[in-house]
Amino acid sequence: MNVYDTIISRRTIRRFQQKHLNLALLKKFVNAARLAPSAANLQPLEYIIVTEKQLCAQLFETLGWAAYIQPKWTPNEHERPSAYILILVKDIKNPYYQRDVSFATENIVLTAEAEGLGSCILCNINREMIQKIFKIPQTISIDSVIALGYKAEKSVIEDMGDSVKYWRDEHDVIHVPKRKLEDIIHVNKFS
Ligand SMILES: Cc1cc2nc3c(=O)[nH]c(=O)nc-3n(C[C@H](O)[C@H](O)[C@H](O)COP(=O)(O)O)c2cc1C
Repeated sequence: MNVYDTIISRRTIRRFQQKHLNLALLKKFVNAARLAPSAANLQPLEYIIVTEKQLCAQLFETLGWAAYIQPKWTPNEHERPSAYILILVKDIKNPYYQRDVSFATENIVLTAEAEGLGSCILCNINREMIQKIFKIPQTISIDSVIALGYKAEKSVIEDMGDSVKYWRDEHDVIHVPKRKLEDIIHVNKFS
């Protein structure tokens, strides 16, 4: 897949096959993050790769899934992520750290997509619990968690109508509304 095709095909995936992900592959994702653009090249980010079964189970309890899906939904026992990458920030005084996080995150999820994996970025997380589980020093900020694994669900885009809310249909396919190109693009002037 070229970069554009990878971008187009990536969707958030929240149900995963129960297949092991090897550490070398996960390190490849962090390497992609490491090489992302960084404001003033300050590189304030660090990462924890989580593969160990018990730690994955503990981390899972700290995560909030698919807030638009009602009634409240979480992946069941047999569809949980195989591994996670935690994104940590060494210096939140860096005024551009959130942009660095975004670039690093996109590099991870696109590299995962190109490797045939699904991913879900999670910011609805219990940072206090995560800090305790992984013994993260108070000086380090926990930005987000990226859940990873082989895909066990399908997600498709829809032209956006009057709601941004994604939904799951009767075949368990996720539908994600996206604003239409002609609604967001301006050529030469804002019109
Ligand atoms: C910054 C950020 C935070 C997110 N946090 C969560 C989250 O906590 N839980 C979740 O299930 N999805 C989360 N998502 C995934 C979004 O719901 C998803 O990207 C959005 O619905 C668009 O779908 P798509 O990624 O398939 O294009 C997050 C995405 C971003 C960019």
